[in-house]
Amino acid sequence: MLNILHHYLGTKILNRIEPEISHSIALCYLRLLNQFVRKKKFGASTLKTQIAGMEVPSPIGLAAGFDKNAEVFNATLSLGFGFVEVGTITPYPQTGNSKPRLFRLPEEEALINKMGFNNKGMLYASKVARKQKLGVVGVNLGANAKSIDRILDYTLVFEFLAQLFDYVTINVSSPNTKNLRDLQKPETLEKILQNVSSINMSLKKKVPIFIKIAPDLSINNITEILNVCEENNVSGLIATNTTTNPSTLKKPTHFEGGLSGKPLMNPSNKILKILAKRKNASTVLIGVGGIFSAKDIYDKIRMGASAVQIYTSFVFHGPRHIKKMEVELENLLINDGYSSIDGAVGALIR
Ligand SMILES: Cc1cc2nc3c(=O)[nH]c(=O)nc-3n(C[C@H](O)[C@H](O)[C@H](O)COP(=O)(O)O)c2cc1C
Repeated sequence: MLNILHHYLGTKILNRIEPEISHSIALCYLRLLNQFVRKKKFGASTLKTQIAGMEVPSPIGLAAGFDKNAEVFNATLSLGFGFVEVGTITPYPQTGNSKPRLFRLPEEEALINKMGFNNKGMLYASKVARKQKLGVVGVNLGANAKSIDRILDYTLVFEFLAQLFDYVTINVSSPNTKNLRDLQKPETLEKILQNVSSINMSLKKKVPIFIKIAPDLSINNITEILNVCEENNVSGLIATNTTTNPSTLKKPTHFEGGLSGKPLMNPSNKILKILAKRKNASTVLIGVGGIFSAKDIYDKIRMGASAVQIYTSFVFHGPRHIKKMEVELENLLINDGYSSIDGAVGALIR
């Protein structure tokens, strides 16, 4: 019964409504579901894996931006995700960019968003996130658009929230906060990482730290970012955020904001492969961008991702699609003789 409700809400009805209203309706339903869900076993054992030491039932995670205020993580875990990332959360609440700011491109199997970190801030998140978590929940951190010291913003929000979550992602790659992507430059990234990692050292329970990067980077940029990460106790990189490059579209047209979904697959895979070839063995990669099938997930894993995250195809196809991909991913692994995800990680680049 719940399955059918999820399916109809997820695909048949919601995709016909204005995108941001449809997102709000989905969140209302998930807030309700969040009250009732209990811990369940998900995914087959072949899919059980570890991401930077965190045990997850499946390598398929929900990407940041869906549950911006950490309100429905148990509900989204119950839909079949192996882990979820909430946020982006900034120190102070902010309303984000003006509406409309979320657009569907069904022919391209893509979304364009220029949300601009609309969220209720770290104080609100710290209150709602205290409840028991039914699985691995990470928090994605950002800076306020009007902040006069963005580096300090990351330090503040890290100090406030890190202990409440299983891992932390430093988001320096959103295209929707002016100049935020400049923080990917080695000098600024290094300052952010030194600050958060010294706070991390002082915590009772240290958290794995990830950096989420843009797909619109040169090989040189990527190498510099990777070096800074590996010198500053970062557990891994999340590749990638949305792209600003219109030439990735089948019918290239100028747009404002970030593009996700099918057109992002090639650019994000390109970055993933570069990282996989150049990284140290201990650096973990999470692949994001354009996943619509189990084969897409399997490709990212064989390119070097230990896990993946999904947003756009979840919006288009709903939760049933996630469970279907889990079954298919398991078959792909078994057919190629792998008894676990681990064996397949990086198989294409070895
Ligand atoms: C509406 C929307 C909002 C997003 N908000 C965030 C965000 O707040 N923080 C973030 O790191 N990424 C955000 N993203 C990017 C996604 O986490 C993901 O990196 C991107 O959509 C690529 O994955 P996909 O092709 O599976 O959608 C957002 C994406 C969309 C579509």
